[in-house]
Amino acid sequence: MINAIILAAGMGSRMKTDLPKCAFPILKKPMIKYILDALDKTIVENRVIVVGYKKEVLYGMLKDEKFAVQEKQLGTADAVKTAIPYLNDGVTIILPGDTPLIDSRFIDNIIKSHIEGENDVTICTARLENPFGYGRIVREKGKIKRIVEEKDATGEIKIINEVNTGIIVINNDYLKVAINKIDNKNAKGEYYLTDIINFTNKIGSHTLGDTNLIQGINDLYQLSIVEKSLIDSVLKQHMLNGVNIINPSTVTIGADVVIESGATIYPNSLILGNTIIKKGAIVGPSTELYNATICENVRCMESVVYDSTINKDSVIGPFAHIRMNAVIGEANRIGNFVEVKNSTTGFNTKASHLSYLGDATIGSKVNVGCGAITVNYDGKIKSKTIIEDNVFIGCNSNLIAPVTIKKDAFIAAGSTITDDVENEDLAIARSKQINKKGYARKYK
Ligand code: UD1
Ligand code: CA
Repeated sequence: MINAIILAAGMGSRMKTDLPKCAFPILKKPMIKYILDALDKTIVENRVIVVGYKKEVLYGMLKDEKFAVQEKQLGTADAVKTAIPYLNDGVTIILPGDTPLIDSRFIDNIIKSHIEGENDVTICTARLENPFGYGRIVREKGKIKRIVEEKDATGEIKIINEVNTGIIVINNDYLKVAINKIDNKNAKGEYYLTDIINFTNKIGSHTLGDTNLIQGINDLYQLSIVEKSLIDSVLKQHMLNGVNIINPSTVTIGADVVIESGATIYPNSLILGNTIIKKGAIVGPSTELYNATICENVRCMESVVYDSTINKDSVIGPFAHIRMNAVIGEANRIGNFVEVKNSTTGFNTKASHLSYLGDATIGSKVNVGCGAITVNYDGKIKSKTIIEDNVFIGCNSNLIAPVTIKKDAFIAAGSTITDDVENEDLAIARSKQINKKGYARKYK
C-alpha cells in the first residue's frame, strides 16, 4: 500500500506569528490543506499528519484526518517516527507540511520512480539559484552520499545548488529499521530525517525541473513568494481557459475557484474559497467573493459576496454586501449600500438603494424602496420577515420582525410595520401631517 506522512508538528518560529506554521493561511486556505487536496488526487491510499505545536488548531481545521502526535519537536526524523504505527505495509512518501505548491502529478511520478528504481529510499531534489536554507545534496560519482543542512554546511558545501526538497519516498521495512539509527549529533541537536540515507546504498533521486513546486515556507517573505507564484499560475490557467481578466496583476483568485469561459473579471478583485463564476458573468472592479456562486450574466461590481448565490441576470452593486447563505433570485437589482443577510429573493425583485434585508424570505417582483429595512433583531433574538410576491415597500419603512406582508400589499413610505399586512392591503403607519397656515413666515 502507498502511505503518506505529512510533517506539521513544527512551530514555525521563523514565521513570528501565533499560528502553527502549517495552519497559516495562503489566500484564506491553510497551507497544509493545499498538500492534502493534492494528495486526494494521487495513488496514496493512507495518510497521517504529524502534529505537535498547537495541535488543536490543526484538529479544528482538518476533519476526517488521522493524526500522530509528536510531543516535543526534536526534528524531522523524530516526527516521522511518531507516524510509523499508523502506516500500512508498503511504501511511504514523506512530505513537509510547509511546501504547499506540490502537485498530484509530481507526487505520483516520484512514487513510481521510487518503485521502478527498486530503491530503499528516493530523495526528491531540485537545483535552485539560491539554495540558502535548504539541505544540500552531496554526490560522489553521481550517487547521493550525504545531505547537509544549512547550519552544518561548510563553505564548499554551501555553494552546492542541488537541494533536498524535503520530499522523500521510502520502503517501510527500511524506514522502520533505519529511523532508530539516526542520532542528533549536529548543529541543531535535532534528529534529521535527511540522515535516513546513511544506512543503505540503494538511494534513488528524482530531480524536479519546476522549482516553483517545491518552494518551502519558513517566513512571511517566503510565503509571499509562494503566494505570488500560486496566483500567477491560477490566473494564467483561467485566461487560457477563456476567462477575460482585465489587468490581471491586480486580481487575486484562489486555487479552488471555478470560472467558466466567457466570464470577465475587472481589476482589483479578490476571489477566494469555493467560488463559482458562470459564463457571461462580469465581476468587478473591486469586488470580493468568498464561497460565492455567481450565475450566468450576473453583473457584480464594487461589492462583497460571502457564502451566497446570485442567480442569473441579476445586477449587484455598486457597493452591495451579500452574505451568510443569501440567495438572490434571477434578474434582481441589488443596488448601492444594500446589505442582504441570510435571505432569499424571488424573480425580478429590486432593492436599489440603502437597505438592510436580514433573515427575510422575499418573493418575486417585490420593490424594496430606498432606505427600507427589516428590523430582525430586538437585542435578544433574531426573527423572520416574509414579503410575498408583488409587494411594494415604500421608502424608509421599518418592517419589525416577525412579520408577514402578503401578496400585492403596499406599505406607505415612512411606515413602521409591526402587524401582518393582508393581500392587496395598503398599510400606513406614520403620524398624520398637519399644515399650519402661514406659520413658516411667523417662525422665520
Ligand atoms: C527541511 C530539511 C531540509 C530541506 C527542507 C525543504 C531536515 C532535517 N531538513 O529543512 O533538508 O531542504 O526541509 O523545505 O529534514 N517538523 C516536525 N517536527 C519537528 C521538526 C519539523 O513536524 O520536530 C515539520 C515542520 O512543521 C515542517 C517540516 O517538518 O512542516 C520541515 O521542518 P522545517 O523546520 O521547516 O525544516 P527545514 O529547516 O525547512
Ligand atoms: Ca521548511
